[in-house]
Amino acid sequence: MSGEDLPAILAHAWSLLVRGGADRKSPLHTPAVASVDAAGLPQARVMVLRKADPMTAALRFHTDARSPKVAELDGQPVSVLAYHPGENIQLRIAGLARVGRNEADVDQYWQQSTTFARRCYLAEQAPGTPLPGPASGLPAWAEGLQPSEDQVAPARPNFAVLWVNVTAIDWLHLANSGHRRARFSAADGWVGAWVAP
Ligand SMILES: Cc1cc2nc3c(=O)[nH]c(=O)nc-3n(C[C@H](O)[C@H](O)[C@H](O)COP(=O)(O)O)c2cc1C
Repeated sequence: MSGEDLPAILAHAWSLLVRGGADRKSPLHTPAVASVDAAGLPQARVMVLRKADPMTAALRFHTDARSPKVAELDGQPVSVLAYHPGENIQLRIAGLARVGRNEADVDQYWQQSTTFARRCYLAEQAPGTPLPGPASGLPAWAEGLQPSEDQVAPARPNFAVLWVNVTAIDWLHLANSGHRRARFSAADGWVGAWVAP
């Protein structure tokens, strides 16, 4: 791994995130993304990490524009939590969230998704809407079907991209020989500092 060298540790943390965005088998593919709801209560949920970009210190997630988290997160601080069991590394990421709905790049990510993935956005009610019984929320015609481009097109307004502009990373490495923890932040130019684990 990265020894005791702070720049190498930060680079390694980003390499794990990049892999997490690219490799669905990576444990960092499904971090928890936490917000604060309207009542001031913490709300965490698992989301698929679609892309991590070290150059811009950004993470990209996809979500339903109608979901409560969109309103909770847009323009707000966000916490992203991931653990890599093979590497014994926890990453607690702080950032600023921004939701994109209508930009050209959002269209591009919509088009790049499989029609099967885009089918979720055909759900008739917003996520979290009470239902009379167990149901997917999809229209009956879309159940168990690999829809066509034309069939998923009306769902585009329900698709949103959640960007996380990473402002700090708290890195924790567990080891029998001695745990290590370091904090990196944009505010200090990402130089990093050791802290007690
Ligand atoms: C493995 C896994 C991956 C998930 N990926 C996403 C995702 O990429 N985007 C998303 O909005 N919800 C995803 N979810 C569902 C969320 O965890 C959550 O239940 C849903 O988005 C509603 O969240 P909210 O009510 O806080 O808005 C995923 C859940 C699991 C278990």
